[in-house]
Amino acid sequence: MLPIRDCVQQTPGYVPGEQPQTTDYIKLNTNENPYAPPDEIFDSLEEELKKVRLYPDPVSTKLRKAASEVFGFPYEQILAGNGSDDILNIALRTFVDPGETVAFLDPTYSLYETITKVHGATIKTIPTNDKFELDSPLICPEAKLIFIASPNPPLGKHLNRQYLQETCEQATGVVLIDEAYVDFSDEDHWEFIKQYNNVIVSRTMSKSYSLAGIRVGFAISSLDIIKQMDKVRDSYNLDRLAQTLGANCFQFQDYFQDIWQKVRTTRTRLITSLRNLGFLVFDSDANFVLASPQWIEAAELYNKLKERKILVRYFKHPRISNYVRITVGTDEEIDRLLEVIEQLKNEA
Ligand SMILES: Cc1ncc(COP(=O)(O)O)c(C=O)c1O
Repeated sequence: MLPIRDCVQQTPGYVPGEQPQTTDYIKLNTNENPYAPPDEIFDSLEEELKKVRLYPDPVSTKLRKAASEVFGFPYEQILAGNGSDDILNIALRTFVDPGETVAFLDPTYSLYETITKVHGATIKTIPTNDKFELDSPLICPEAKLIFIASPNPPLGKHLNRQYLQETCEQATGVVLIDEAYVDFSDEDHWEFIKQYNNVIVSRTMSKSYSLAGIRVGFAISSLDIIKQMDKVRDSYNLDRLAQTLGANCFQFQDYFQDIWQKVRTTRTRLITSLRNLGFLVFDSDANFVLASPQWIEAAELYNKLKERKILVRYFKHPRISNYVRITVGTDEEIDRLLEVIEQLKNEA
């Protein structure tokens, strides 16, 4: 018998959205940015590629300094991760012993559950209300770590700020506010880092900076917390290409801000159009929307769209089994999605 830990054996593992191996799909299933980053970010890549023989900078200095300019915190208060998933794992291993408690909402980003289980920690979930929002602060005195995303998937709305504030205030452990989608909204939680000594904000370049394929994320927190987390990360956790492309992307703020605005404009149109097509759709602060078709089962809609080469996300989770989550694509992609949905509705 192999000595596989019980907690690993009993975990199905994380189920990511499909990444088809062909390019003939309209991909609206994993919240990637539909717009490519500017070509100029690749200019310095050749020089980096010549250095692949050498290990990368273990502490991602240039990237963290570039992030510091944008985030407005000293780079010593920023830790770089191989995607923000890496940051979540580092936080878990820094603050939680196996057997101790980690708290998060239900539903939320499903990776929190997977990594907590694999770590052998105890999970405490706090259900959101019917509208997938908070009715009160997330209080869990035994939690060493609280993962809380705002905007929170799969709804994509920011959580109530006052409740979030009270969550941080009352927590006895560390609160990690996952801001993966924050650039598509008007709010952020930077001030929480200044206000509370137990708060980490995580950020990713996967969504708003169009770098999902490269894997760059960050933790921003107090010096004390970042110092401890830095001991836990893999020694060379970001490769050369990730460090270079991440730092380069930060130089194109105007370009990315235009893209974020474009996504927000398309999002508004998508929500209105889906409502007109008989969907229950929530407002969103992210680059995706959660929508429930009222004239077809969500699972069937997912399958029919897939047959027509459009991928959206369907979750078997009981709270959202009659919803699909749709990433905001380009205008052309959304036009095609709406056209197909209209045909399906006419056939229903
Ligand atoms: C809430 C949330 N946090 C983090 C991530 C992961 O981001 P990254 O690509 O930086 O690992 C996702 C990805 O879907 C997400 O939805």
